Amino acid sequence: MEIKNDSITILVVDDEESLREICKDALKDEGYEVLQAESGQDALNVIMSNDIDLVISDLRMPEMNGLQLLEKIKEKNLDLDFLVMTGFATIETAVECMKMGAADYLPKPFNINHLLVKVNKVVRSRLEKKEQKRLSNIVRLLNLSNALNSQLDLKSICYEFVLQVQRNFSPDSVVLFLGRDNQRGLRKTVVRGRLFREDPDLFARVQSLAETSLEKCSSHLLDSRNVSGLPIFNGHDFPYSMMMVPLFSQMSKVGVIVLLRKESRVFSNDELQLLSVFAVHVSTAIQNAKMYSRIRDQNIDIIYSYAKAVEAKDYYTKGHSDRVAVYAMKLGSYLQLNTKELDALYTAGVLHDIGKIGVPDHILNKPSQLDEEEFEVMKSHPTIARDILSQVWTMKDILPVVYHHHERVDGKGYPDGIADGQIPELAKIISVVDAFEAMTSDRAYRKALPWEKARDILLKGRGTQWEDDLVDQWIKLVTDKGFATIQNETLLKPHLPGQN
Ligand SMILES: [Fe+2]
Repeated sequence: MEIKNDSITILVVDDEESLREICKDALKDEGYEVLQAESGQDALNVIMSNDIDLVISDLRMPEMNGLQLLEKIKEKNLDLDFLVMTGFATIETAVECMKMGAADYLPKPFNINHLLVKVNKVVRSRLEKKEQKRLSNIVRLLNLSNALNSQLDLKSICYEFVLQVQRNFSPDSVVLFLGRDNQRGLRKTVVRGRLFREDPDLFARVQSLAETSLEKCSSHLLDSRNVSGLPIFNGHDFPYSMMMVPLFSQMSKVGVIVLLRKESRVFSNDELQLLSVFAVHVSTAIQNAKMYSRIRDQNIDIIYSYAKAVEAKDYYTKGHSDRVAVYAMKLGSYLQLNTKELDALYTAGVLHDIGKIGVPDHILNKPSQLDEEEFEVMKSHPTIARDILSQVWTMKDILPVVYHHHERVDGKGYPDGIADGQIPELAKIISVVDAFEAMTSDRAYRKALPWEKARDILLKGRGTQWEDDLVDQWIKLVTDKGFATIQNETLLKPHLPGQN
């Protein structure tokens, strides 16, 4: 690996100026950036305000010796290497330094070549470690990207992002703020960890700074050393290390992610850089999710208006689709289906007869039984529904449920005449409750049947028209709750998919 020494900054710490100068000249000739400090405290000041890669420090110095300086650096969890210069008298202390994490030691007196060999060795190993870290960061990003790409709704993306942030940065607390649509200010979306509970004032200050951070699209890496520059924290204890990164893209400002650790574990510039790249990924994912949700809502509105148009055409089925939707959700809950399946059942219930929009009015509203030819036309409604719904990609999960709601488990249904194993589970549920609702409601050609009569018809078609277990479960549910109760519950304002 080729070493570009000018990207490496070395701090030489010694109370002897002449020795510092000799080291500085030799290291500069080698291409390194070199800074100097004449004491431990001076060194700490330089370290806090510069990006130092390597400290070469004498051990014996007044006030703060080399070992104490190393201790301070370790306390602050700073990512830099440490090389100790030592006379023979302090060689044991040098060994102590190595135990504490110093990379190497250099016995005094040394010739300058010896110094350069040791420095080059430490720098090479540092750069190799950085390269490994860079590769592992790429793996982390790929993991983040995969995790985000598998989610489409905003809530899941936010939780997944915070989870990835926790795994990769081990913060003591984390908060994700998102912008409010068409309003100023931020709202907290996900909060993890105890620090905000332990220090309630902290949250308001962090939120206020986050709002400025998003407005100016600027990141912050803060701890007790540099927080005083911000008026909002001035005069308040800040025993933390904090990374704050705005989430934004060319299109809009999305939110802010804030990570906090107790001061003993300071965040590094490398971590800030990695979090910033995470932020770019999540900003895009959040924007896509918002766009997806807007398009989905628009499509759902359009489709629902179709469903209403069908009801306007077919007076006697008014309310039928809504009741089928509620019945289907009830049976689905009874069967312990998950939320996604229940949402799909509801939407499919509302839309199951949408294809009737293509059936002529005189057939839809005929006050007597349909003849064979008319029935053939009526049977086209699942296919018409498929043609309508296939235009809308957000309805792709609903489409097979609607299309197959007139199949029979014995394969004698329509439109495809497929049998039990091939019929989508949700379509079989719709089929049972659709028939039940139709039988227990008034129709153009007959009055509603009593529910016991409908029950007997379902039982008769058990295992041929409808799946036996679904018939049993539905009858059990209606018997247990009472038909009047079940029917009344369909009058409540229904839940719409996508509503939380
Ligand atoms: Fe139908």
